[in-house]
Amino acid sequence: MTDIRVLADDAQYRAHNTLFRRAMHWGPPTDEKWEIGRRTYEPGRVIAAFDGDTMVGTTQTFASSMVVPGGAVVPHAAVSRVGVRADYTRRGVLSGLMREQLSTVPDPVATLRASEGRIYGRFGYGLAGRVRFLRIDARKAVIPGSPVGRVRMVDPDTSDKLVPELHQAFGLDRPGQISRWPGWWAIHQDRKGEAENLVTVVHSGPDGDDGYVSYKVSEDDDFKHHMQVEDFAWANTDAWRDLWIYLTRLDLVDTITVDAALDDPINWLFEDPRVVFTKDVFDQIWLRLVDVPRMLAARAYGAAAPVVIEVHDKLLPANDGRYRVSSDGVERVDAPADITIPVDLLGAVYLGDTKFSDLAAARRIEGARFDEADALFASPVAPLCSTFF
Ligand SMILES: CC(C)(COP(=O)(O)OP(=O)(O)OC[C@H]1O[C@@H](n2cnc3c(N)ncnc32)[C@H](O)[C@@H]1OP(=O)(O)O)[C@@H](O)C(=O)NCCC(=O)NCCS
Repeated sequence: MTDIRVLADDAQYRAHNTLFRRAMHWGPPTDEKWEIGRRTYEPGRVIAAFDGDTMVGTTQTFASSMVVPGGAVVPHAAVSRVGVRADYTRRGVLSGLMREQLSTVPDPVATLRASEGRIYGRFGYGLAGRVRFLRIDARKAVIPGSPVGRVRMVDPDTSDKLVPELHQAFGLDRPGQISRWPGWWAIHQDRKGEAENLVTVVHSGPDGDDGYVSYKVSEDDDFKHHMQVEDFAWANTDAWRDLWIYLTRLDLVDTITVDAALDDPINWLFEDPRVVFTKDVFDQIWLRLVDVPRMLAARAYGAAAPVVIEVHDKLLPANDGRYRVSSDGVERVDAPADITIPVDLLGAVYLGDTKFSDLAAARRIEGARFDEADALFASPVAPLCSTFF
C-alpha cells in the first residue's frame, strides 16, 4: 500500500526527478543539470507515491494558461514527469497519483503528452489535439514574390529576453496553445546553450516585431544539410510568409522538418505544393476537463440548436450532470439528455479536433442530434500546442 505526499524540499525534488528519468530509461540528472532542473519544481505542485520511506512514483504540474475555442484564456495545469519505479508498476501507483492530482489541482483544465495511448483515458483524459510532422524539400521550395518585412538574426542574449516576450504576445494564437512558465524557459535556454548552432531570427513589420523562428542545421553522413525548426510563432500572415521565405532560401539546406497544425496552409506557400510532405500525424494534446461547468462556460460555440449533454465522470463526480449547450452559452439542467458522454471523450471534442458524430460512429457515445453538437463545438481553427513539456 502506498501513500501520496506533497514534496517540499530540494533533495526530494531531485529524487523525484531521478525516479521519473529512470522510469523513462534515462540517467539521473548530473549536478550541473540539476542546477537547471530544480528551477522546474513549483512548490505545492509536486507529488510522489511512497512505500514506507521509499519513493516509488512521481508526477507534477506546471502552472500555465491555455487558449480555448473563441479565444478565452483559462488557468491550465501542464501535467508532467509521470513515472513509476519499474519494480512497482501495475499495482495501482499511477492510479493513486492521478486521483490525488485531479482532486487537488487548482486549475479547471489539465493537459499532458502521453508516452502511450492506453494509459490516460481511464483517468478522464481525452485525445484533444493532433500535430503534423512535415518534411520540406528545401531545394525545390520556391515561394513566389518578395518579403514585405525585415528578418534579422538575434544573438543568444537578446533572444533569451525577447523570445519569451514575443511568445507571450502572439504565441497563444489557437485553441490548445499554452503560456510558458519560468522553468520551461530555463530548460529551453539550457538546451539552446548546448545546441551551439541554434539560430533565432525575428521578423518585423510596420508595427514592430511580429514573428520569430528558432532553428538548427546539421549535416548528415551524405553531406546533406538538414534544418529542424524548433520554435516558430507569428502575429500575422506577412510574418509567417516572410519567415518561410527566409528559411527556404538559406544556403546549403536540403530538407526542413517542422511541426504544424493540421490546418496550417503551408502547402499553399509554394509553387509546387508537393515540396511539403506529411511524415506523420501524431496525437499531441491529451486534455482533462477538471471543472466541467467552468470549462464549458469558457469556450465559444457555433450556431446550432441547443443540445443537452449528460456527462459522466467517475473520478470527479461533481462534474456529473446534464448541460444544455447553445450558441449563447451553457447551463446545468434537469432536462432529458440528447447525448451521454464520459468526461474523457468530452475532453476529446472540447478543442474541436474530434466530432461527436465520429465518436457516435465508433460506438463510443450514445444519443442523438450529433450534427447539432458537432456544429456547436466546431472550431474554425484546429488546435495545436507548440510548447512541449
Ligand atoms: C505508465 C506508468 C506510469 C503506469 O504506472 P502504473 O503504476 O503501472 O499504473 P497503474 O498500476 O496505476 O495502472 C492503472 C491501469 O492502467 C493500465 N496501464 C498502466 N500503464 C499502462 C501502459 N503503459 N499501457 C497500457 N495500460 C497501462 C494498467 O494495466 C491498469 O489497468 P487496470 O486498472 O485495468 O488494471 C508506468 O508504467 C511507467 O512509469 N512507465 C514508464 C514511464 C512512462 O511511460 N511514463 C508516462 C509518461 S507520459
